[in-house]
Amino acid sequence: MKLHLFLPILLLCLAPLAAPFTVIPSDSGLVDAPQNGPKNGARTDPREQEAVYDVMRATGNEWAAGIVDVCRGRWHGIECMPDKHGVYHVVSLSFGELSDDTAFPTCDPARSYISAAVTRLPHLRTLFFYRCFSYNPQPIPAFLGKLGSTLQTLVLRENGHVGPIPIEIGNLTRLRVLDLHKNDLNGSIPGSLGRVAGLRSLDLSGNKLTGSIPGFGFPSLSVLDLNQNLLTGLIPPSLGACLSLIKIDLSHNHLTGPIPESINRLRDLILLDLSYNGLSGPFPESLKDMISLEALVLKGNPMESVTIPDDAFAGMNVLTILVLSDMNLHGPIPESLGRLPSLRVLHLDRNRLSGSIPESFWNLRSIAELRLNDNQLTGPIPFGKETVWRMKRKLRLYNNSGLCYDAGGGFEDGSGSSHDLGIGLCDAAAARSGSARTVRHTSEGNDADGDMTRTAQASSSVGAHRRSLLVLPPFLIASIVVIPLFS
Ligand SMILES: *[C@@H]1O[C@H](CO)[C@@H](O)[C@H](O)[C@H]1NC(C)=O
Ligand SMILES: *[C@@H]1O[C@H](CO)[C@@H](O)[C@H](O)[C@H]1NC(C)=O
Ligand SMILES: *[C@@H]1O[C@H](CO)[C@@H](O)[C@H](O)[C@H]1NC(C)=O
Repeated sequence: MKLHLFLPILLLCLAPLAAPFTVIPSDSGLVDAPQNGPKNGARTDPREQEAVYDVMRATGNEWAAGIVDVCRGRWHGIECMPDKHGVYHVVSLSFGELSDDTAFPTCDPARSYISAAVTRLPHLRTLFFYRCFSYNPQPIPAFLGKLGSTLQTLVLRENGHVGPIPIEIGNLTRLRVLDLHKNDLNGSIPGSLGRVAGLRSLDLSGNKLTGSIPGFGFPSLSVLDLNQNLLTGLIPPSLGACLSLIKIDLSHNHLTGPIPESINRLRDLILLDLSYNGLSGPFPESLKDMISLEALVLKGNPMESVTIPDDAFAGMNVLTILVLSDMNLHGPIPESLGRLPSLRVLHLDRNRLSGSIPESFWNLRSIAELRLNDNQLTGPIPFGKETVWRMKRKLRLYNNSGLCYDAGGGFEDGSGSSHDLGIGLCDAAAARSGSARTVRHTSEGNDADGDMTRTAQASSSVGAHRRSLLVLPPFLIASIVVIPLFS
């Protein structure tokens, strides 16, 4: 699902990766210059050539053995760089069909495996296998740890890998990108990973990892994605020390305890998704130092009767998506929510919020989706007809204790919008006595689409907005860095 959403961006970014002249920062004595293919006489290191043949054979690509010089042969998925003596070394190997346009060598699904021959490629910086071993499930081989002196990017995405993440991964001390998304990995996240001090992107999402999240402190980590696992325990407060983070997704796990106040230190964080865990209160007192935060998703954490602090979101000028559904929130909606200038999506539905919708909601000029349904809200709604019309069915107010629209608000001219909202005209008498009359969701019977559709819409709309956040799949961060060199 996620990959599907990201695929267009993904392919765009992979194009440079697949292009023949990828420039990679120099180290280990290789010459940092665009390659024009081996010059006359120059050729691939013969030991590496043999290793490549073996790796290719292990994925069912026997055809490669017929290529006289693999760096000269130059299929998509191999990259080489010369050393000072003009000898070419393999720096990158990629497998798996990402799309019709970006086809690395495919793997024979029934019998492919990662050959230990990769350890005979002493200059390898990138190893990329996508959907390669699904019908031949196998553990991630411990021998990958031997690539420690050079490997920077390890992507084993949707490969059907089973068993634990080998502790030898911690030997890959130069690693920047580790992407093990959507396999069947179990066991816990190895503490040895803490040795990979330069890690920039860690994606272990979509596995069956158990145990708690180790207290890592990666100074360069920008993307942490552990969503859809079986992780337990607390969110480690040390996360607040990973000051480069721009995306944290820990959703759909079994995490407990409070949200650590230390995350407030993450001034570059754009997306924080902690939804569908078992997190408890209190609600973070203040998130105001997270000045880059665009999306905060905490839904589905049934906290024990928590109120939203008045100033929790004060000063969050770029906050665009705030999703706090299904959290057992009670008490009033803070006035300060109406002063978030960039807010486009606000979900406060299925809580026990009471009182009236703050007057400040008049100011939410960018609001495109507002869910306040299934609460105990009362009183007149502070929106004009235009706002209601603009949001259409993305404004959800049904099943509250007594929301209503004011006479003179322009709703009673037969346009039918009030009927869609499931609220009625504020009763003058009730208003005088301080309580609006109770109005049930009038279109309940028609709303046969039910919760499944609602949930699907929720995730798709949040997904759509998220896409605009430029939070890219982890393993692309490295390639993004490369892009400007080509434009
Ligand atoms: C990993 O590093 C340790 C030393 O830190 C070494 O003993 C071990 O052999 C290495 N394993 C691999 C697979 O590289
Ligand atoms: C991981 O899964 C394998 C089966 O694929 C099982 O044999 C093993 O016991 C599991 N290990 C843990 C720690 O759950
Ligand atoms: C109305 O909302 C409350 C939560 O405030 C919920 O418990 C109840 O099930 C909802 N009723 C309907 C008919 O959906």
